[in-house]
Amino acid sequence: KFDNRVKIVEVGPRDGLQNEKKSIPLATKIELIERLAKTGLQTIEAGAFVSPKWVPQMANSSEILEHLLKTPPPSPVPLTYSFLAPNTKGLDSAFSLLSQYPKAFETETAGRSSKVAQEGGKPALEIAVFAAATESFSQKNLNCSIDTSLTRFKDVIQQAKAANLRVRAYISVVLGCPFEGYDVDPHRVASIATTLLEMGADEISLGDTTGMGTAPRTKELLSCLSSAGIRNEDLAMHFHDTYGQALVNTAVALEHGIRTFDSSVGGLGGCPYSPGATGNVATENVVYFMESLGMDTGVDLDRVADIGHWITREIGKANDSAVGKAVLGA
Ligand code: HMG
Ligand code: MG
Repeated sequence: KFDNRVKIVEVGPRDGLQNEKKSIPLATKIELIERLAKTGLQTIEAGAFVSPKWVPQMANSSEILEHLLKTPPPSPVPLTYSFLAPNTKGLDSAFSLLSQYPKAFETETAGRSSKVAQEGGKPALEIAVFAAATESFSQKNLNCSIDTSLTRFKDVIQQAKAANLRVRAYISVVLGCPFEGYDVDPHRVASIATTLLEMGADEISLGDTTGMGTAPRTKELLSCLSSAGIRNEDLAMHFHDTYGQALVNTAVALEHGIRTFDSSVGGLGGCPYSPGATGNVATENVVYFMESLGMDTGVDLDRVADIGHWITREIGKANDSAVGKAVLGA
């Protein structure tokens, strides 16, 4: 049976903002998350427990999680808030906050169903680890080899799962690396994905960090993953729109059977260790595109477009969403 439901993972508050040089006030970040919570999105990536020396903009992620625990924003659907954690130190920051507010969030995300929605829909926390498909990118982003990163993630995943948290695992540069070019081996991606799933990750998000992905190479990658026995329902696509190919690649992935897509409001974003990478594909563009195909995202396009307009002005950037601008008549 054809499944027309698509899940959009909003990564604007993390991937969208992490690269901004000027420190963005905590209140602005919280307002962004609170506004996004009202749009029908089911997952919002809200911060990163990473070294503040490496990514200063994410330094107040603890305050963000604390705010969400203390005052969960009203939302029409139960929300999952995702936070990056590259090691157990990052995970411990999340755990120490969770322990201060033990009743604030739902923990058994796997079994989360209509029951929770009826109860008013407590939010849940998700932890995201992030590996790379090339050694150079792993060194630049995590200061260690792919193997070492996977050993660290094993502990993070195990401990997060033991605490009943959902775990997402990114693999970056799957369709092109700023240091190694287009020659990223899809079999390598498949083997890293398999390892992360075996460690207990609930979902693999395939990052086209540089936006170098093309339609044929997206198809080749997904075919390779399918041949390696990886199920579409365990995959998400994370496209950056640097070369303007994100929606074309999205169409290819959708056709292949993928139903989870990462995007950021207003097309915010970049990656500090991926020179030249511009924003994630804009949430407005993905929602509009999915609707045009008769797919159901559950996301209110007008609301998201308003948020894109507001946040890009707030941080002094151009609104990178063609759809957002068109919807607003701007
Ligand atoms: P390192 O320097 O090798 O770490 O960095 P270390 O273990 O030697 O520790 C060095 C210092 O960092 C110590 O502090 C630690 O306490 C501290 P000091 O003693 O010098 O004061 N530290 C931490 N502080 C806070 N939270 C932590 C943490 N861990 C250590 N969790 C490390 C290794 C992984 C920490 C570093 O490389 C790092 O933080 N990297 C993160 C980089 C990052 O966030 N990149 C962007 C996200 S990935 C992305 O954008 C791609 C994605 O969007 C998908 C795609 O598009 O492809 C997900
Ligand atoms: Mg990214």
